[in-house]
Amino acid sequence: MSDAEFSTRLSNARQDVEACLDGLLGPEPLPGETARPDALMAAIRHGVLNGGKRFRPFLVIESTRLFDGSDKAAQRVGAALECIHCYSLIHDDLPAMDDDDLRRGRPTVHKAFDEAAAILAGDSLLTLAFDIIADDATPLDATARLTLISTLARAAGLGGMAGGQALDLAAEKTPPDEGGIVTLQAMKTGALIRFACEAGPIIAGAGNEERARLSRFGAVIGLAFQLADDLLDLRADAETMGKATGKDAGRGKGTLVSLHGEAWAERRLSDLVSEAETLLAPFAGRAETLIAAARFVASRDS
Ligand code: IPE
Ligand code: IPE
Ligand code: MG
Ligand code: MG
Ligand code: MG
Repeated sequence: MSDAEFSTRLSNARQDVEACLDGLLGPEPLPGETARPDALMAAIRHGVLNGGKRFRPFLVIESTRLFDGSDKAAQRVGAALECIHCYSLIHDDLPAMDDDDLRRGRPTVHKAFDEAAAILAGDSLLTLAFDIIADDATPLDATARLTLISTLARAAGLGGMAGGQALDLAAEKTPPDEGGIVTLQAMKTGALIRFACEAGPIIAGAGNEERARLSRFGAVIGLAFQLADDLLDLRADAETMGKATGKDAGRGKGTLVSLHGEAWAERRLSDLVSEAETLLAPFAGRAETLIAAARFVASRDS
């Protein structure tokens, strides 16, 4: 697949998911909700509808297409996952965590609003994600719905993203060894990306073998994604990235790049892409978009 074709696919998924998120984050309360406070809605919309790559929803959509599952379900599950990703970024930027002022080229939520709004926007997005998947408007059978809810809970929570964020902050004080870095990155970044890839076979009701294969593919590109983020933190400028760079070295953050250097990281990235390609080889041409996604992870420049 050419780079241009890949960009078109990513951009189509982005538009679909943003339209879906825009609708989900409207002012009207849902049945059972009392009211949606204007100021909180504004903080949430600032933290979500602000130009992310939407790479995780794209993975949900494409991993679902691989097994001919419902596009509508994939879009809504992708939107739910993006809610959790955006919450993780809003909290990641808080003064108590990475203390960043810029995200996606705009002031972070606690800068544009205040810290309480950023904390509550994150809380609201985390719960909204599960509401979206549980809602009948997401066309899933009962087994798929429950499996998605429990798999996402485990990917996002203390044994996944949130736990990884805790290990990441602890690592600023006591630098971990290589195994420790791989574990924390597999959790803080890998877990949500792995969920994105596993969601497709779950939505489409594919077998356990297919699900395990997509889960392994997600784990591999998840590691590559954070490795690339760490390289970009070192190499890219804030304008291109839409967020501060040069932060990891400044905070003494133990990353594989700081441990082994840039040349090693480049080689490791290309090994991870090859591993990802091998995992999808049984699907042949049907997996070409996901294979292009693995290459995009390693070669992206923002
Ligand atoms: C940034 O994720 C946080 C990491 C896990 C490295 P993305 O690079 O996907 O950020 P957006 O969503 O495009 O802003
Ligand atoms: C972020 O890692 C991981 C999560 C938000 C879960 P980073 O702290 O490296 O992400 P950026 O660089 O701020 O986007
Ligand atoms: Mg962080
Ligand atoms: Mg950060
Ligand atoms: Mg980073």
